[in-house]
Amino acid sequence: MKMAKQVILTGIRANNDLHIGNYMGAMLPMIDMATKRAGEYQVNLFVPDLHSFTTPIDHSKLQEAIMNNLRVFVAAGLPLDNPDVHIYRQSYIPAHSELTIVLDCFTGVGEMGRMTQYKDKIQKNGDDRVSVGLFNYPVLMAADILLYNTSYIPVGDDQTQHLEFARDIALRLNANFNQDLFVVPKSVKKQHAFFGKDQGLRIKDLIDPTKKMSKSDESGRGVIFLNDTPEIARKKITSATTDSLSRVGYNTDQPGISNLLELLALFSSRSLDEVRKEFEGQTQYGPLKEALADSVANFLTDFQTSLAKVDDKVLKSKLETSEKAMNTAANRVLFKVQQAVGLRPRD
Ligand code: TYM
Repeated sequence: MKMAKQVILTGIRANNDLHIGNYMGAMLPMIDMATKRAGEYQVNLFVPDLHSFTTPIDHSKLQEAIMNNLRVFVAAGLPLDNPDVHIYRQSYIPAHSELTIVLDCFTGVGEMGRMTQYKDKIQKNGDDRVSVGLFNYPVLMAADILLYNTSYIPVGDDQTQHLEFARDIALRLNANFNQDLFVVPKSVKKQHAFFGKDQGLRIKDLIDPTKKMSKSDESGRGVIFLNDTPEIARKKITSATTDSLSRVGYNTDQPGISNLLELLALFSSRSLDEVRKEFEGQTQYGPLKEALADSVANFLTDFQTSLAKVDDKVLKSKLETSEKAMNTAANRVLFKVQQAVGLRPRD
C-alpha cells in the first residue's frame, strides 16, 4: 500500500483585515511547503469560518471576508494546480462540527477555562459577554486538525496552547478507545524544527512592542494590514516606537528595535543573524526603519498586484474540488470515531 503523504494544515480566520503577522506566522510557511517541497506533503489551507464569529462581527460582511481570505491565499502564491494542495471553508465540511460535539464530551470545563485567549477575554469583558463559542474554540480547532491526520500546523506563537490541546485530546481518545483513531500531531518543538525556527513567531505591535500585532487593535497604527497602501505602511514604520538608547541592539531591553530587526529579516528573506550583523551597533535608528519600509513597501506592491489578478473562476473551481475531497477524507475519520463511541455499528 502507498504511504499517505504527511499533512501540513493551517486555518486563517476571515476578517477583512489580515496583517503581516498572519501572513508571516501562518501563511508563508504553508506557501513555502507547497512550492518548495511540492509532491512531498499534502497542504491544507482553509478558512475557519465558524471560528470567525466566536467574537462579535458584522455578519453582513462575512461572505465577502471569506472570499477575500481565499483570494489572499492565492495572491500569496499558493499553487492551485498542485493536486496535493487543498483550499476549503470549514463550514462546508459538516464533519468539523460533528467531531467537535464528540470531542466536547471528553474535554474538561476547567481545561478550556485555563486557555489564555479565553481568560484574557473574560478579564476584559466579563463572562456574560464572552460566548460559549469562544470557550469551545480550541475543541473546534482540534477537530479541524485531527480530521485530516495532520502532522504539522504552522501557526503563530499565540496558538501554541491550542496545538498542545489538539495533541492531548488525540492521545486521550486513542488511549480511551485503545486504537489509533487519530494521527497525533507532532510536538510543538518538532513543529518548530520542521519549519526551521526555534520558537513560534510573534510579531509585535509597532506602537506598543510589548504586545503582539493583532487585528483587534483599535487604532491600527501599530499594525500593518495586507491592504495598507505602501505609503501608509511606510508611515507606520517611520512612526514605530523605539527607545532612547541610540544604539541598535537585539535584546529584551529594546523590544521595538528587536521587532524591527526581526521584521527586516522576514521581509528581506535573510537570516536574523545577517540582519543583526548589518545593523547592530549603529547609533541611528533611521537607516533600519528605512530599510524595513523599503522591503515592506515592495512586498505590499507585489502582493496587491497579485491580489488584483486572482481569477475567481479558477478559485471557485478549486474550492469545489477540494471541498468534495475534504468531505470524503474527514467523513472517514469521523466514522471511525462514531464507531468507537458507539454512535455507529462496528461492522
Ligand atoms: P487567526 O486568524 O486569529 O490567526 C491566523 C494566524 O496568524 C497568526 N498570528 C501571528 N503570528 C505572528 N505574529 C503575530 N502578531 C500574529 N498574529 C496572528 C496566528 O497565530 C495564526 O496562526 N486559531 C487560529 C485559526 C484556526 C486554526 C485551526 C489554525 C482555526 N482552526 C486549525 C490552525 C489549525 C487563529 O488564530 O487564527
